[in-house]
Amino acid sequence: MIEAVKKQDATILVIFGAVGDLSKRKLGPAVYNLFLDNWLPENFKLIGVSHHEHDDASFKQLMLDSVNKYSRRGEAAYDKWEKFAGQLHYFRADFTKEDSFNKLNDTLSEIEGDWGKTANRIFYLSVSPRFIDDISHNLKTSGAAADKKKARIVVEKPFGKDLKTAQELNGLLTECFDESQIYRIDHYLGKETVQNILAFRFANSIFEPLWNRNYIESVQITVAEDVGVEHRGNYYDTSGALRDMIQNHLLQLLCMVAMEPPITYIADDIRNRKVDVLHAIRKFTQSEVEKYAVRGQYEAGQIKGEPVVGYREAPRVNPESNTETFVALQLGVDNWRWKGVPFYLRTGKSMKTKTTTIAIEFKPVSHQLFPCNISHMSTKNVLIISIQPEMGIKIIFQAKEPGLEMLVKPVEMSFDYSDSYEEQPPEAYETLLLDVMEGDATLFMRADEVEAAWSLIMPILRYWENTQPNNFPNYEAGGWGPKEAHELLNEKRHQWLIDALIK
Ligand code: BG6
Repeated sequence: MIEAVKKQDATILVIFGAVGDLSKRKLGPAVYNLFLDNWLPENFKLIGVSHHEHDDASFKQLMLDSVNKYSRRGEAAYDKWEKFAGQLHYFRADFTKEDSFNKLNDTLSEIEGDWGKTANRIFYLSVSPRFIDDISHNLKTSGAAADKKKARIVVEKPFGKDLKTAQELNGLLTECFDESQIYRIDHYLGKETVQNILAFRFANSIFEPLWNRNYIESVQITVAEDVGVEHRGNYYDTSGALRDMIQNHLLQLLCMVAMEPPITYIADDIRNRKVDVLHAIRKFTQSEVEKYAVRGQYEAGQIKGEPVVGYREAPRVNPESNTETFVALQLGVDNWRWKGVPFYLRTGKSMKTKTTTIAIEFKPVSHQLFPCNISHMSTKNVLIISIQPEMGIKIIFQAKEPGLEMLVKPVEMSFDYSDSYEEQPPEAYETLLLDVMEGDATLFMRADEVEAAWSLIMPILRYWENTQPNNFPNYEAGGWGPKEAHELLNEKRHQWLIDALIK
């Protein structure tokens, strides 16, 4: 068990949308695991807020069911749960009514009165974007979030639908709160293996000298999912993979790989370096969208031997939908370190397998001295950062094959979290919730970061909106995406390295 070294100040976590999907799947189990690991303060309350008819007892039951179903630790033990459940309360509210928020504020003040101290008040907006405006204004006018040091607002994606709506949302939030109070979540940044990219790069001396255009041939980021849109057709059909995944998760991964070393490990130093990367990425012209961006949509197929329906047949999806469920891009980072190195990004639903992997392909040796066994074509070194479900880092390098001939063959050297550590790593939401409680914004997105990411994808978004695809659906569920995503790498004679490595 992780030893809790720091205890937070008294904290009240208010979750708006507390009976919704995210709260059930992620937030409830995450808070419970923080409790089990002894990270929650002595004075702690979780207040679930929504318009649904519930009371404390039914809300506790709902949370218990969620923990039993979704917690990484499996079913809750009775005595532990009872102790935790004593800290849970339900508050029924209409998000659009100021009065609800005045009452909520009174409730929070009463709790603080009982504790004899002011608490960190964390307002987690796990709600549909259409409620953010009302909730923010009502929090402001009720005074519930008035303490700029202690009140924090957590905002989930989607963070706008495009640059303009993201700017409007930032405008709205900063009208109601101080930027220092706002925590914009990208749950990828909470993943243990994503944070480890920084440790790998900046806590070791041997990799950083190679981390540039002189040694690196290409960077390939794949976020493949083996599920389709599941029950989220409504949302997804108006979003698509570019907005849903590239604008946030994949660009964040790219920033972690490409950023310059920050001076310190404090929020703004890190975020400044990430924003530098976003600014350095070359924006596409229209013809470049044609050349360097590929979109796809899955048709029926098989995943792991099971038949799956095509995207257009999925529930709550328009049967003539042209929404992309796959995107591949070739991006260039125009700065001293990366000029000329292609960054290939790829994400899709209903693909062969679930994997999030960053493959760094190094340049070949300048002179090939040894014959290589022709069955092992590639003689390049590759560094593979596995984000999930495998968690670790692998280096592929050449070694002499045993035998009387001098033949070289690629072999692997690897680090795997599960071999090196007994303890299960925390889930992303555990890390992120704890960071909000501690007031550490390092793993959250600043307003300018979100806007820089949107402005980067706007030319693609506009071009695709104005030019309907004429070949959808264009990839079979259970594969690695449309053929154009492979052709995208032809120009530089590259290949998606992961496809061959994952069976
Ligand atoms: C979410 C997207 O942000 O990330 C989903 O909205 C996607 O469509 C999910 O499935 C993937 O997250 P993870 O952690 O499972 O890779």
